[in-house]
Amino acid sequence: MSTKPAIAVAGLTRTYGSGDAQVHALRGVDFIATPGEFVALTGPSGSGKTTLLNCLLGLDRGDSGTIEVAGTAVDQLTYEQAVEWRRTKVAIVFQATGLIPHLTGEENVDMVLRIRAAMDRSERQSRVAEILDALGVGELSEHLPEEMSGGQRQRFAIARALVAEPTILVADEPTGELDSDTAQDVLGVLRSESERLGTTLLIATHDRLVATEADRVVTMRNGQIGGADPQ
Ligand SMILES: Nc1ncnc2c1ncn2[C@@H]1O[C@H](COP(=O)(O)OP(=O)(O)OP(=O)(O)O)[C@@H](O)[C@H]1O
Ligand SMILES: [Mg+2]
Repeated sequence: MSTKPAIAVAGLTRTYGSGDAQVHALRGVDFIATPGEFVALTGPSGSGKTTLLNCLLGLDRGDSGTIEVAGTAVDQLTYEQAVEWRRTKVAIVFQATGLIPHLTGEENVDMVLRIRAAMDRSERQSRVAEILDALGVGELSEHLPEEMSGGQRQRFAIARALVAEPTILVADEPTGELDSDTAQDVLGVLRSESERLGTTLLIATHDRLVATEADRVVTMRNGQIGGADPQ
């Protein structure tokens, strides 16, 4: 069992704009998550949570600092390498679910397995059915995203993230559109499935429930972990 961190960020800075319009979104972030850990990233609106996640996923570039995720130096990847890395290695859940509108719920989830796993059709079908049942949306598998509620779509998005048994799952406000009972259910499954798979979970959220479920809560303020409030 490796003791290498699952996520290691050091001295990460990100500044948007220039001159008077400059925003220091990240001001030297240092952060480590160990394999299998569930970390909730909290902090006021504008404190830099989404910026940090976007940099971790190679969707945005820091100005300085280093980022390593599951052994990959994300800050060193070219744009094309980052696209391929996200497609095959990390699981991502955003508030906007990104389900493909013309595919059914089941097809949306199955697509990930077709890309990432060497499984035949019947293996894929049973794995997809298992995860959809675990998330309580098995009965909606033939529905298109537009025929689902926001909460149901979010469960499919989480099913899609978990189905290929990822090492790392990064989520930005995954319970943002859910009522508290649904959020509780979805978090319970997210937690138990990620424990079973040894997945490291990093979830940015304003939801106190997520913070209660997490192994550790990390608070961002003004572009730093544990930083001071802006003047
Ligand atoms: N593309 C951008 N261009 C300019 N400024 C940006 C951009 N994206 C974010 N910012 C600024 O960077 C700062 C951090 O924003 P970020 O979205 O990371 O905050 P957050 O902690 O995720 O907030 P929330 O809780 O509201 O989602 C904010 O001041 C924001 O206005
Ligand atoms: Mg945000």
